[in-house]
Amino acid sequence: MEPGIATRMQYISPFYVMELLQLAKQLERQGRDVIHMEIGEPDFPTPKGVLEAGRQCLHDGQIKYTAATGLQPLREAIGQYYFDRYRIQVAVERIFITPGATGAFLLALGSSLNPGEEIIMADPCYPCNNNFVRLFGGTTQYVKATAETNFQLNAELIRHHWNEHSKGVVVASPSNPTGTLISPDDLKQSVEQTLALKGCFYSDEIYHGLVYKDKAVSALQFSDKAFVINSFSKFFGMTGWRVGWLVVPEAFIDPVEKLAQNIFISTPTQSQYAALACFSRENLEELDRRAAVFAERKDYLYKRLIELGFEVEAEPQGAFYIYANCSRYTDDTFKFAKDLLLAEAVAVTPGKDFGHNRENLYIRFAYTASVDRMSAALDRLEQFLCQYPK
Ligand SMILES: Cc1ncc(COP(=O)(O)O)c(C=O)c1O
Repeated sequence: MEPGIATRMQYISPFYVMELLQLAKQLERQGRDVIHMEIGEPDFPTPKGVLEAGRQCLHDGQIKYTAATGLQPLREAIGQYYFDRYRIQVAVERIFITPGATGAFLLALGSSLNPGEEIIMADPCYPCNNNFVRLFGGTTQYVKATAETNFQLNAELIRHHWNEHSKGVVVASPSNPTGTLISPDDLKQSVEQTLALKGCFYSDEIYHGLVYKDKAVSALQFSDKAFVINSFSKFFGMTGWRVGWLVVPEAFIDPVEKLAQNIFISTPTQSQYAALACFSRENLEELDRRAAVFAERKDYLYKRLIELGFEVEAEPQGAFYIYANCSRYTDDTFKFAKDLLLAEAVAVTPGKDFGHNRENLYIRFAYTASVDRMSAALDRLEQFLCQYPK
């Protein structure tokens, strides 16, 4: 490595899909119509009322720093949201507004993880979590997750993998890349087990709201000692605004505030005002309609992938991803994804981006495109598969 570059950088992984994205852009410059099923953000625009609130804030020139904890009315609206959707009371002082779930994770881990300590997480999972742990000098213990546990951890797995270096556990439900949920019982027992081991429980609830049959439960329903990470990016459709939130155990209020003051000062002010408009009745109804569209897309994509010979080991219950086992066709999904892009201009994300658990056998398909676009993509995929023996 070049002198001067921190040694920790060797542990920070890039997004491998970026290589494919660059290739996709190149193809688009050549006039090819690339269908994007690799993108992890809703294709819907920011809802009108939210956009309007952001515009109004800029128009009024209300764009000074806010408190590091966030805009008070937004924290209160989130507190009310917990009551309305989950029937739980969350003290407003425990709610911090952050630059996305990303900012929430940085505050949660930065305030709780010591160098040398280890965080347990399921493999496959969202890749940035490990990189955050590394940034704070920690290590990750990946636990291979399978369809047997819905690609989630449970109390038994946590107990089994806990050791003298363990500091905490990350659970994301619905999961990226599998879209699967942890059951309410498993979440409850996992929280209780982690706290009994004197660990920290970090619950990534960013895909709540995008859950199609069952209901997602929050770790806060079982304990006020869990860290809960959430965001306006996915269900609320505000990716580029960079606004999310973190709920912390009471003992962490002061440390997290101190850290937020230093590393962010505050979350973008106009984004916080825009986020406040998310909680109007009309907006929440619009978001629920969008969630219903995602549910239809999921059913469509799931059915077609199975017909094409892909195996989906655990049917997704939320988010906007299907993690398909492609072993019938390849044991190198990075190459498969690249070949598919070059031949048929369909972009997908190879399993390599989500961990080390038979990752070369999987592809993540995102249904962040309309059924019409997906239908065209799947026809192209079918064409691409003609080269493989039946
Ligand atoms: C599971 C998960 N957590 C966190 C994030 C980060 O989201 P944000 O845009 O709120 O920073 C993502 C983004 O894709 C995600 O999939």
